[in-house]
Amino acid sequence: MHSSTELQEIIEKAIPQIEYPTHPANLYEPIRYIMSLGGKRIRPVMVLMATELFTTEVNKAIDVALAIETFHNFTLVHDDIMDNAPLRRGRQTVHEKWGNNNAILSGDVMMVESNKHLSKVDINVLKPVLDTFNATAQGVCEGQQLDMEFEQRSDVSIPEYLEMIRLKTAVLLGGAMKLGAIVGGASSADAELLYNFGENLGVAFQLQDDILDVYGNPEKFGKQVGGDIIANKKTFLHLKTLSLAHENEKESLISTTDNKIDKINAVKQLYDKYKIKELAALEMNKYLTKANFALDSLAVADEKKANFRELVQQILDREK
Ligand code: IPE
Ligand code: IPE
Ligand code: MG
Ligand code: MG
Ligand code: MG
Repeated sequence: MHSSTELQEIIEKAIPQIEYPTHPANLYEPIRYIMSLGGKRIRPVMVLMATELFTTEVNKAIDVALAIETFHNFTLVHDDIMDNAPLRRGRQTVHEKWGNNNAILSGDVMMVESNKHLSKVDINVLKPVLDTFNATAQGVCEGQQLDMEFEQRSDVSIPEYLEMIRLKTAVLLGGAMKLGAIVGGASSADAELLYNFGENLGVAFQLQDDILDVYGNPEKFGKQVGGDIIANKKTFLHLKTLSLAHENEKESLISTTDNKIDKINAVKQLYDKYKIKELAALEMNKYLTKANFALDSLAVADEKKANFRELVQQILDREK
């Protein structure tokens, strides 16, 4: 069994070896750019980890891991257009560098590249792999649609928010686990338990992402701090504050002002007053506990689960 660092190295080595066509350069250069900017590689590592629970042949899962990372990067390129985000992984976003149309098309072709990776999987598992991948990808699109619709709404509930992040973020972590399990030859019961682990971890992951969006260290975060506040995102922090604040305080949450810094500071002050960061962290912990619970139920040796426990801790401690 490999450590999570070793699995990450396997991914880091495999990514530059992916061959994309060269023409038209403006279609393929953004793919090389975004894929080479690093990132934590959590999802492809999860694929490999899940495979290694059931087989020593981790190489069997590399194409699926690359498919998942390529798909994830595609969603980031399109997400950054939708969120009007200037920064990703500490660098200019693809649409800032190449323009929206180019970013749309490069994203589209990344989805095709994901499928090309997937089609290399062992024919015996190809159908469940494609079915799982497609269900996952569709879930992400549904979640992203809800995320955008929520920007325009003022009556979003916390359960609606949790369902939205389950779709936009958590199904991909669940899908990564399930795909790894399928490739490793897991029973469908085990594959479902691992999906469940990944999905709960994914909800916690997005709650943490929302916390970092406000409280992240700009030097380390790699994205624009306060982006969610500027975009009027209905995050857990926003919704929880709405449920606690006095009527006259709510204005700063929903106000649209040209001065972004003022808006971020006003909203942050309100979050601090109601200890929203702590409340969001409590909510995140609920989902991490659920994830650990799913892992407990899995009938594999405890040593084999160590990588996953570490992953949970990494998500708790992350700064980007
Ligand atoms: C960002 O994902 C998108 C979310 C679902 C919050 P990551 O935080 O995993 O991004 P990278 O790949 O490490 O840059
Ligand atoms: C990410 O949500 C969802 C995706 C499917 C990409 P965010 O919009 O919060 O992700 P970041 O913060 O831009 O990475
Ligand atoms: Mg975004
Ligand atoms: Mg978004
Ligand atoms: Mg975010």
